[in-house]
Amino acid sequence: MKPIIILGSTGSIGTNTLDIVQRFPDEFRVVGLTAGNNIEKLEEQIRRFRPKTVAVSSESSAALLRSRCADLRVEILSGEDGITHVASVLDAELVISAIVGAAGLVPTLSAIRSGKHIALANKEPMVMAGKLMQDEARKHGVRIFPVDSEHSAIFQSLEGHRIEDVRRLILTASGGALWTLTHEQLQDVTPERALQHPNWKMGAKITIDSATLMNKGLEVVEARWLFDIPESNIEVMVHRESIIHSLVEYKDRSIIAQLGLPDMRTPISYAMHYPARMTLDLPSLELTEIGRLSFSKPDHDRFPCLNLGYESLRIGGTMPATMNAANEIAVDAFLNHGLRFVEIPQVIRNTMEAHSQQEITCLDDALEADRWAREKAESLVHALSHS
Ligand SMILES: NC(=O)c1ccc[n+]([C@@H]2O[C@H](COP(=O)([O-])OP(=O)(O)OC[C@H]3O[C@@H](n4cnc5c(N)ncnc54)[C@H](OP(=O)(O)O)[C@@H]3O)[C@@H](O)[C@H]2O)c1
Repeated sequence: MKPIIILGSTGSIGTNTLDIVQRFPDEFRVVGLTAGNNIEKLEEQIRRFRPKTVAVSSESSAALLRSRCADLRVEILSGEDGITHVASVLDAELVISAIVGAAGLVPTLSAIRSGKHIALANKEPMVMAGKLMQDEARKHGVRIFPVDSEHSAIFQSLEGHRIEDVRRLILTASGGALWTLTHEQLQDVTPERALQHPNWKMGAKITIDSATLMNKGLEVVEARWLFDIPESNIEVMVHRESIIHSLVEYKDRSIIAQLGLPDMRTPISYAMHYPARMTLDLPSLELTEIGRLSFSKPDHDRFPCLNLGYESLRIGGTMPATMNAANEIAVDAFLNHGLRFVEIPQVIRNTMEAHSQQEITCLDDALEADRWAREKAESLVHALSHS
């Protein structure tokens, strides 16, 4: 049985991963789990999957969990150190990286440095420090398997082909919850409205990122580092139905794509079982029932965040980490009714414009850019909310 660790086990990707574990009880042994503060769900998972060690964000949550799990043999740690301990010290073959946001960078990088293969859902660390993560993965003989459905599709479409034969990667975008709204209608969008994604059931942060198209901006950066392809060869196409998960065009103009109904268990299972494809008892994609699929170009006027992703790559160094941090602050403020939807790109752009880009030579460079950008973005949010 393959020993595995799940970082962010209480989230959308985390629970889908445990669904796969449950379907293949002879394949995986869960040795470690980490969560933020949802200790009710984590307790359920501990009772069901019996990990050796778990970690949660705060010591107060850890103390509560220890008292709830007093009848069980499980080590309960806390804080970033505790989460990083689970990611790196425990013996495991594969770490499913599914924390949301920059909080996943240190644990995921530590898992790489401890020689564990990674199933990567948590795209933000790859945005913040993609080159560093890939360099460390090479140094430690670690493979990073994409879980993001678009990157899994590209990974699958590249199988058996040579990277030098690729002409372009085409990432598909659903367009998110607000794609059909006019510029005027976008002015008054509430978080509740923006959280209504048409195709995917995901955590709140990525659902807002889908609505602003920042998710696609982050994915362009993620693709650049995962597949070592320059941003000029990465394109984005809006495909509302989320059936074609992404495409690769080769030099001979042949295009290879991966299709399926939107269900994250398919890419999660592929990353966990690679190179095997396991039988999943899920509905089949019946194209004859769907009939038509639609494709269009992204609208950069209504949704400027996608271009910020490209721009951050062109500037390079610490700029993608800066963009990512500003986005996290802006999205959090929007979700808490402290910023308007249309102000999210404004906060990110103004933070990027105020940043002096530097090269990333070590983890601290990325963390310092993240810290700086959070402070800057917080002050911009504060100014906007009082204007
Ligand atoms: N959901 C999807 O379908 C999907 C698809 C592609 C890529 N992704 C990527 O996968 C990642 C996870 O997304 P998600 O939708 O699963 O998010 P989610 O549902 O919000 O779950 C996030 C997980 O991270 C934990 N967490 C949050 N803040 C933390 C912190 N500061 N320290 C430690 N743990 C923390 C949460 O813990 P608690 O809940 O216990 O507080 C939860 O377990 C994101 O990077 C997202 O972009 C998601």
